[in-house]
Amino acid sequence: MLSTIIYRSQLSESVSPERLQALVDHSSLRNAAIEVTGILLLDGQHFFQVLEGSMEAVLTVYQRISQDDRHFNLIELMRDYAPARRFGHAGMALFDLRDYPQHKVVDALLERVTLSDERIRHDRVVKFLRSFVEGRDKETFIAIEQADRWQLTAPRAFLSQPTWQPAPDQRCEFALQPIVDVASRRIVSCEALIRGPKGASPAEYFAQLHESERYQADLHSKSYAFQLAGHLDLREQTISVNLLPMSLVVIEDAVEYLIQQIRHQGLRPEQVVVEVTEDEVISRFDAFQSAVQQLKAAGISLALDDFGAGFAGLSLLADFQPDKVKIDRKLITDIHCSGPRQAIVRAIITCCQALEITVIAEGVEKIEEWLWLEGAGVRYFQGFLFARPALNTLPPISWPERRPL
Ligand SMILES: Cc1cc2nc3c(=O)[nH]c(=O)nc-3n(C[C@H](O)[C@H](O)[C@H](O)COP(=O)(O)O)c2cc1C
Repeated sequence: MLSTIIYRSQLSESVSPERLQALVDHSSLRNAAIEVTGILLLDGQHFFQVLEGSMEAVLTVYQRISQDDRHFNLIELMRDYAPARRFGHAGMALFDLRDYPQHKVVDALLERVTLSDERIRHDRVVKFLRSFVEGRDKETFIAIEQADRWQLTAPRAFLSQPTWQPAPDQRCEFALQPIVDVASRRIVSCEALIRGPKGASPAEYFAQLHESERYQADLHSKSYAFQLAGHLDLREQTISVNLLPMSLVVIEDAVEYLIQQIRHQGLRPEQVVVEVTEDEVISRFDAFQSAVQQLKAAGISLALDDFGAGFAGLSLLADFQPDKVKIDRKLITDIHCSGPRQAIVRAIITCCQALEITVIAEGVEKIEEWLWLEGAGVRYFQGFLFARPALNTLPPISWPERRPL
C-alpha cells in the first residue's frame, strides 16, 4: 500500500549549495532503490519533505533522516495512505523556493506534481505544500530551542516535608505528585494518586474491591488523601484528588461527605481540587451537574482530567466549565515532533484561554515536550521530568535550567 510521510525541520547551520546537491543526489539514488519518491523543499531556513512508498520503506528513510544533525526540530505533519504518488518521477528532488519569484513559486511546484488536476485540487499533501510555500504554516509554528542547551537541576526537596505514616489497617494509601509552575519554580498543587497498602499498585488495589463497593471505596478513600494533605505543610498549594464522576451521583450526600472530611482534616474547601476523568460515561447527567454545582458553591475547584482522551470531549467544557483542564498524556508524549498533536493542543489552549480555564499538561517526560508546551503558552506541568510520585510524602523536584555556555 502506498503511504506518505511529510515533515518539516529547521536547518542546523547554513549548508553550501554543493553539499546540499550532494545530499540530494545521494538520497535520490538510495530512495529510488527502495521505490521511495518525493521532494525536498527549502526556503533558506526550513526543510519540508514529502516521502512516499511502502510504509516500511518510508519509515526506514524517515528514521534515518530524523537522526541527521544537519537539521533539527523535525515535526511530522502527516502520515497517511494514498492511491497515487505525487512525485512519481524522482527518488528525491530539491526545490529551492528562493530560485523562483514569489508569484511563480506555487505554479512551478505544481508542475512537478504527477497527479491529475482533479486530484491536485483535493489532495492534502498538495495543501500542505501550498501552506509551506506561501509561508502560512509559520503563523502557527513554534520554534523551540535545541534541548541540549538545557539540563535539569539535581532533585531538591520541597521544604522539609515529613513522611506520613498511615494506620496499619488503612485500605489504601496515596502517592503525591506535584503540579508545577516552572517559570516561577513553584508547586501549585499536589495530586494524590491512589495506591494499595504499602504502596501496592492502583491495579492491585482495585482488583481486591468488589464491583458493588467501587464508588463507596472511591469516595471514602479521599478521607485518607485529605488526612495526608492535612499533615503536609501545604501553604498556598492545593491538593488534587481524583474522583469517578459516578461516585458523586451514586452515593447520596457525596459532596457533603467530602466537605466534612476536608474540614475535619483542618483544610479549607478552596485548597481542594476535584479531578474527574472523562473516561467513564456519565449516565445520570442531571445528578452529576447538580453535584458539580454543590462542589463549586462550597469553594472546591473542578478539573477535567485526561482531557482529549475520553468519551465526552469538548462538549464537557460547555456543560461544566471546569476551573482547570489537564491535557492527557497521549497528546503530550512527543508533542514536539508531532504536527497533529500540536494542532490539537493549540486548539485546546485557545479554547481554554477564551473560557479562562487553566491548562495543565500532564505526563511531561522530555525537555523538548516542555519547551514546546511553554512556547505554546502552557504554564503548569506535571510529569516525571519534574518529579515522580512519592508514597505518603512530597517528592523532590528537578527544574529545567539553561546549561552554562
Ligand atoms: C533534510 C534532509 C533530507 C534527507 N532526505 C533523505 C532521503 O530522502 N533519503 C535518504 O536516504 N537520505 C536522506 N537524508 C540523509 C540521511 O539523513 C542520511 O544522512 C543518509 O540517508 C545516510 O546515508 P548513508 O547510510 O548512505 O551514508 C536527508 C538528510 C537531510 C538533512
